[in-house]
Amino acid sequence: MILPDGYSDIPAGKIAAIVTHLEMTERLAIRSDPPGANAWTLRKVAHPTTDWFRELYSRIGAEWMWYARLKLPDAELAAKIQSPGVDIHALMQNGRDEGLLELDFRQAGACEIGMFGVTAHLVGTGAGRFLMNRALELAWSRDVQRVWLHTCSFDHPSALSFYQRSGFRPFRRQIVVGDDPRLDGTAPRDVAKHVPVIE
Ligand SMILES: CC(C)(COP(=O)(O)OP(=O)(O)OC[C@H]1O[C@@H](n2cnc3c(N)ncnc32)[C@H](O)[C@@H]1OP(=O)(O)O)[C@@H](O)C(=O)NCCC(=O)NCCS
Repeated sequence: MILPDGYSDIPAGKIAAIVTHLEMTERLAIRSDPPGANAWTLRKVAHPTTDWFRELYSRIGAEWMWYARLKLPDAELAAKIQSPGVDIHALMQNGRDEGLLELDFRQAGACEIGMFGVTAHLVGTGAGRFLMNRALELAWSRDVQRVWLHTCSFDHPSALSFYQRSGFRPFRRQIVVGDDPRLDGTAPRDVAKHVPVIE
């Protein structure tokens, strides 16, 4: 169904975001690593457990309304993150995991960056650029013709311009509607103040 022009009501208790899909269909030169990049390393997580994944996912994403993976039953989440076609990496600083990168190669010829972000104290420090540079090197080192991702209007406000500066081109826009995760205990009540609770 195509939404009508003009305003559309979202029922109380629901949230709505605009999703932008972006893609890169050729390997481009990566941007310069930021100064201080030697503070970070990328660690391939060979056997990501659901507990490990959910902890880092929440630490990065709670403020940005990342909750879809929290709602997935354990077996479904494990099947995804432990799939042979999915690579999970952590960005480390001072021996601690502070960033998350998921590269999904399950579709032939393509790589979806399914998860991308760093914890709050690393935002704006260059860690995101470091992580994107490594993501693109890893993605294009495989036999792919397309690297793509999506971001939504709940994500950090820099994300969309950051991805475009990285060489991704927007190609699709959607609206996603769902239950507010702060009303059913999936997420803490006081997170993501930029999306106020309406009940
Ligand atoms: C989205 C996100 C990755 C954007 O990253 P960011 O923190 O704004 O970006 P960075 O600080 O790493 O880099 C931004 C720019 O500043 C530059 N920079 C950062 N620190 C610098 C420094 N000390 N000196 C010089 N340049 C610096 C980087 O090199 C980069 O330049 P470029 O984009 O021109 O190449 C990050 O905000 C994030 O992870 N947010 C939380 C989770 C999220 O919303 N993820 C998106 C989900 S789709």
